Amino acid sequence: MPGTRRDFLRITDLDRDGLLGLLARSAELKRLGRRGPRPLEGQTVGLVFEKASTRTRVSFEVAAYQLGGHATFLSPRDTQLGRGEPIRDTARVLSRYLDALVVRTFGHDKLEEIARFSRVPVVNALTDASHPCQVLADLLTVTERFGDDALARGALQVAWVGDGNNMANSWLEACALLGFGLALACPAGYDPDAALLARCGGRARVVRTPAEAVAGAHVVNTDVWASMGQEAEQAKRERDFAGFIVDEALLARARPEAIVLHCLPAHRGEEISEAVIEGPRSAVFDEAENRLHVQKALLERLLAPPPAI
Ligand code: CP
Ligand code: NVA
Repeated sequence: MPGTRRDFLRITDLDRDGLLGLLARSAELKRLGRRGPRPLEGQTVGLVFEKASTRTRVSFEVAAYQLGGHATFLSPRDTQLGRGEPIRDTARVLSRYLDALVVRTFGHDKLEEIARFSRVPVVNALTDASHPCQVLADLLTVTERFGDDALARGALQVAWVGDGNNMANSWLEACALLGFGLALACPAGYDPDAALLARCGGRARVVRTPAEAVAGAHVVNTDVWASMGQEAEQAKRERDFAGFIVDEALLARARPEAIVLHCLPAHRGEEISEAVIEGPRSAVFDEAENRLHVQKALLERLLAPPPAI
């Protein structure tokens, strides 16, 4: 309903309690599996994707089905979006058929424009600026490994190794809400969003060497050197990110119980070594699975009908 509907464009669209509550509900829905509630009966979720996707697309489709609803996938290749129909028209039209719009696009401003013109909840399925659904899954994975209260306690140390990209920005937003320690090792020129960093106060810091970031970390997180849309910069980035690899030598600097996260897809031998991603501390496939569970909790929150009065 216009005016009262909720979007999920960034982690900070939730407050601290809302975020912790959503993670707790995600764990509950994971336990219930296919025996869970079906609050999306009769509802259709539209997936508007302008970039490639394996995990996000399939996990949202399955999430909608398991909640009793339906999903329809739309790409520029086979819609009028690819022929230049204005995004604001597309948003207005689609939101008259659909009950939520899950959007993967380039500029965050485009996502915000869709949200301004949509009548139904809009979910960020990745923009150049942020990837909040992935960070929900990452946070659920952290609670599974370190306990339900690990995030709330504030004692957790998280390391980010690599580009200050969309994923790094969403981790900063989580840090601003939850207050864990976050050290981001980024080559000069590849820092995350300065305003988001400032919102974390002293809890987050940017350093220039992976070793500094990883020292004493519970969680070591990395991502590709060149994100979607940056393919032309691949060669330059390979030079600039030399040494920013999560390998066994780097991981030895983390806590003995540390886990490794990567949103995937991964480039073995670039940002992460084969031994680490396939090794005992890698949580990347639980992390990928958790996309499904957090997105079920998210869709339930955004779309479940309010209780009858
Ligand atoms: N991690 C993630 O968002 O993967 P996809 O690009 O495959 O959706
Ligand atoms: N930073 C990566 C994440 C992919 C899921 C990208 O934007 O391509």
